[in-house]
Amino acid sequence: MRSFVVLLVLASVAATTAQNCVCNTMKWATCDGSPCECKITIADQVKQTLECAKLIPKCFLMKAEMYRAKKGLSTRSGGKPTDHAFVDNDGIYDPDCEANGVFKAKQCNNSDICWCVNSAGVRRTDKGGLDLKCEKLVETVWMQTQLKHTEGVNLNDEAKLKSAIVKAIVERYSVDDALVTEVKYDKDSRTILVDLKKGASNVDIATVGYYMEKDIKVLPLFYNDSKKFSPSVDSKNVTFENILVYYVDAEPPTFTMKRLTAGVVAVIVVVVLAIVAGLVVLFISRKREKSAMYQKAEQTRELDEIQKEQLTSS
Ligand SMILES: *[C@@H]1O[C@H](CO)[C@@H](O)[C@H](O)[C@H]1NC(C)=O
Ligand SMILES: *[C@@H]1O[C@H](CO)[C@@H](O)[C@H](O)[C@H]1NC(C)=O
Ligand SMILES: *[C@@H]1O[C@H](CO)[C@@H](O)[C@H](O)[C@H]1NC(C)=O
Repeated sequence: MRSFVVLLVLASVAATTAQNCVCNTMKWATCDGSPCECKITIADQVKQTLECAKLIPKCFLMKAEMYRAKKGLSTRSGGKPTDHAFVDNDGIYDPDCEANGVFKAKQCNNSDICWCVNSAGVRRTDKGGLDLKCEKLVETVWMQTQLKHTEGVNLNDEAKLKSAIVKAIVERYSVDDALVTEVKYDKDSRTILVDLKKGASNVDIATVGYYMEKDIKVLPLFYNDSKKFSPSVDSKNVTFENILVYYVDAEPPTFTMKRLTAGVVAVIVVVVLAIVAGLVVLFISRKREKSAMYQKAEQTRELDEIQKEQLTSS
């Protein structure tokens, strides 16, 4: 009798699994078989098998996105992007990934122009030729995201807002709450700063950042892309209109400021931080408010000066 019940249970488990053979963390994946197996095309005739119980590594996501853009496939399936969506191809290239989805230290975007990246796949050196050497992949140890919430949300209880943000991140991206080290709120600019630090964990914070960027700027990468990133404070949902991501590497980047060119929708600014890691590479994915811009420009100049000093002293 007991074994019969077990069989029944097994059968129903199998049935649900077959029904749910989808990749929750990647809507462009194709899945089939039993056990369910999901793959995504990342280049002509190249399919990458995915572990859908976790977030998909950023390197694979970028490859898939480049492939889809090349083939004229939608990179934002699910119809119309949100009102706040805009085209953002800057910073995107077709990366070389290790078998486990980690970025290779040297990237050439299928061309003969190469550069070195950090573990978030962000360029941290000047561009060079095919003979450029990148000795190792420098770890991005800290990521600061600046979330700007939409107007009309009146958030008076900062403590509640903070815990709602942490809860939303932990649940949505399946990360440990120790990863979120700080949440700050500036009511006037509607900005929430969220610090993610790698610490002792093995989590790839850059991947979390990439999912967040897509969640806020375009459409979620999750299978159910109508489920928004929307922390709930006093049963009111907070929605966001913009996100900026700052990357802090374990070692300062080595590019010269002059060679950093501003893209149409993206500007790269290097900010000097007096604390810990030294330098922050900042991606601004749309025009900043003037005041913030001046502040950054100030800091950029500082860095420029430091680098000039270094150049003249070496
Ligand atoms: C990479 O190559 C693609 C296609 O050739 C191009 O559109 C894109 O701008 C390049 N990206 C970078 C960062 O060089
Ligand atoms: C996706 O999420 C939305 C909003 O939470 C929900 O209404 C909908 O039923 C979900 N769809 C699927 C297929 O799970
Ligand atoms: C807030 O979001 C939750 C899911 O995160 C949803 O179930 C609920 O309907 C939303 N509430 C409002 C008022 O939009």
